[in-house]
Amino acid sequence: MNRWEVGSEFEWSNRFLKSTVDSTWLPDTYELYSTGTASILAVYHLFVQQQKRPARIHLPSFYCMSVAAKLRKFLQVFWYQDIPTQPAPNFKSLQTQPGDLVVAFNIFGIRSNQPWLEWSAAHPEVTLIEDHSHDPFSDWAKQSKADYAISSLRKTLPIPDGGILWSPQNLPLFTAWGQESLGAYKRLTAMLLKRAYLKNNNVAKDAYRQLELESHGEMGFIEDTVVSSFTAKILPCLDVVNMRSRRAENINKFIHLSLNNPSDDWELLFDSWGPGNVPLNSVIVCHTGEIRNALRKYLIEHNIYTAVHWKQPDEGISSEDPLTLDLAQRILTIPNDHRYDTEDIVRMFNTISAFTI
Ligand SMILES: Cc1ncc(COP(=O)(O)O)c(C=O)c1O
Repeated sequence: MNRWEVGSEFEWSNRFLKSTVDSTWLPDTYELYSTGTASILAVYHLFVQQQKRPARIHLPSFYCMSVAAKLRKFLQVFWYQDIPTQPAPNFKSLQTQPGDLVVAFNIFGIRSNQPWLEWSAAHPEVTLIEDHSHDPFSDWAKQSKADYAISSLRKTLPIPDGGILWSPQNLPLFTAWGQESLGAYKRLTAMLLKRAYLKNNNVAKDAYRQLELESHGEMGFIEDTVVSSFTAKILPCLDVVNMRSRRAENINKFIHLSLNNPSDDWELLFDSWGPGNVPLNSVIVCHTGEIRNALRKYLIEHNIYTAVHWKQPDEGISSEDPLTLDLAQRILTIPNDHRYDTEDIVRMFNTISAFTI
């Protein structure tokens, strides 16, 4: 019998491979890197090579702080207010100068590109880099008009590493630098061991958790950005379409259950999204930070590993936007991805519903 334990890092499984190789969902021209952060830094390095070194980058206030911490080594980081409780960024807080880089983010894969189309048409003097990590194959990503677009692929796909950069404007790309990282292979080993653990094959949890933790530190080196051979080879074989539709079905189910059984402690962050998008996961917002922390702990006790997008401050960096900081304390991402079926979603929902503070 399999163990019922949901969330956290992906395990490896042949279940998500297609019988025929089909990479029509990838852009025509792209570069792969070990990480999403390296994909953003590639744009910086390209401009340095072209003697157009940018000095400043603008990031959304609701964003991964470890990315910001790495970018800060090369660029001055500025924040604009962008929170997923609002339909669009607060463009008044985005004050750019010619030559700046701006990261636009399809937060949780629920946003529309329209506000950015209008903003970028009025600001041709900056370089727009869209971050599609939360839904790399949305209509927005596929029809993007941005200078550059990136995704950290391992956020939605069961691969150990991988970032992708493409240019919807057909601008030059920059080849990955350095070498493959040992961290990616540690993570792959952890993914294989996790699969065995979930199959109950006498594999101790510590065996894969330790490797997973070590791989975190060893993968993000900005000197070594070459994607692992494993990811490069397996990427075109992944059944992306099926994984994406499974995710959509699961999220719809969770949302349906939540709307019919509202909680006193939390509410859904969103219950609908634009056409052509599939959200990353279901996301809830607790009424207080204490409730969120207690719920998270209770769910771990019930083998449900949720994620927090994203703790702030973290790694010594913060957007310092009060609305973002407040939301970051109360938000919780529920694992509704392709690994699970309707029965799992009902079980997750029933467990969450049984929580009392
Ligand atoms: C939205 C988003 N973009 C980019 C990145 C960077 O990805 P990576 O961890 O592959 O460098 C992250 C990392 O968490 C992320 O959450």
